[in-house]
Amino acid sequence: MKLFDVYPINPINIVKGVGSLVYDDKGTEYLDLYGGHAVISIGHTNPHYVMRLEDQLHQIGFYSNSVEIPLQKQLAEKLGQVSGKEDYQLFLCNSGAEANENALKLASFYNLKKKVIAFKGAFHGRTSLAVSATDNPKIIAPVNETNNIIFLPWKDETALVEAFETNDISSVIIEGIQGVGGIQVAPEGFLQKIRSLCDEHNAVFIADSVQCGYGRSGKFFSHDFAGVNADIYTMAKGMGNGFPIGGIIISPKIKPAYGMLGTTFGGNHLACAAGLAVLEVIERDNLLQNAAEVGGYLIEELKKFKQVVEVRGRGLMIGIELPAELSSVRKDLLFKHHIFTGEAKPNVVRLLPALNLTKAYADRFLEAFAETLNQ
Ligand SMILES: Cc1ncc(COP(=O)(O)O)c(C=O)c1O
Repeated sequence: MKLFDVYPINPINIVKGVGSLVYDDKGTEYLDLYGGHAVISIGHTNPHYVMRLEDQLHQIGFYSNSVEIPLQKQLAEKLGQVSGKEDYQLFLCNSGAEANENALKLASFYNLKKKVIAFKGAFHGRTSLAVSATDNPKIIAPVNETNNIIFLPWKDETALVEAFETNDISSVIIEGIQGVGGIQVAPEGFLQKIRSLCDEHNAVFIADSVQCGYGRSGKFFSHDFAGVNADIYTMAKGMGNGFPIGGIIISPKIKPAYGMLGTTFGGNHLACAAGLAVLEVIERDNLLQNAAEVGGYLIEELKKFKQVVEVRGRGLMIGIELPAELSSVRKDLLFKHHIFTGEAKPNVVRLLPALNLTKAYADRFLEAFAETLNQ
């Protein structure tokens, strides 16, 4: 059998990882500033994480949501404590798309309305509603087409107000920092406006924190910079440091009912052990502060390169926009300097490293970046 060939891949076979470094099958060392697409939050094979998962595997790996799983309650408690959203409720699932799918559905169950506001440049995943709310017609199949999604220009308050005046809005879904869209930071005033319009119109504010959440921005949720709460936060990626786990946290005003949401795998024992290990390390090693400090340092240093069009982002979610003629920078970083980075269109280098990236590794990148630009 062949693989279903949907990914353009680099000819590199990664067989080992330690912290911010990964190694291929020939023993070549790479600096990982991509984290497998923002997934590695506490570093590859973090010892506490490995120990937690190993211990759990020796006890029980999986049982379904038909029995008590105390680890879920422990995870909810820890997440409330670390995120500061202690009065929220946790529903666990398996991926970012699934988190957004559940959030959009839950919003509609809550206010019995249908229309969703999403934004140009947004990426919310590949399941039915999540992909419909994603601004990329190429990945929307005919069966996903719906007139329930209203796409608005990014950061356009006038369009936002008008959409609320002319439609019965169920929810607004927005990334605090657009990732796939090229590291675009949502202005604080814009998030505050969404909050007040949602309150006024009984709509649900959904903060897609799948990529920009879990401490990546230097705050637990990047939407927190605006000083307002969303009704639902969606999470995945960094939540399990590579173990597939996603979740949504839900404001106390939205009440649960049996059968409203559900999943076979979500919240299983192993996933919870991974999720707990991540939060324990984030807390123990002060990783929000490290993301803010090392990220802030990188952003300031990157702004000094005169060839760079713009540096955007917060904490360790950084976009470096380059002019079209510097289109081979990412490739050079990978194949000449052995540094993994991400990309966004048209020519943005995306940095999404582990939250415990050291300043020494940041400097290693800056040196390689300078050399690449000067070639
Ligand atoms: C902001 C955002 N939301 C949702 C998703 C979908 O997550 P997943 O690939 O885990 O379904 C992604 C993935 O890149 C994302 O960046």
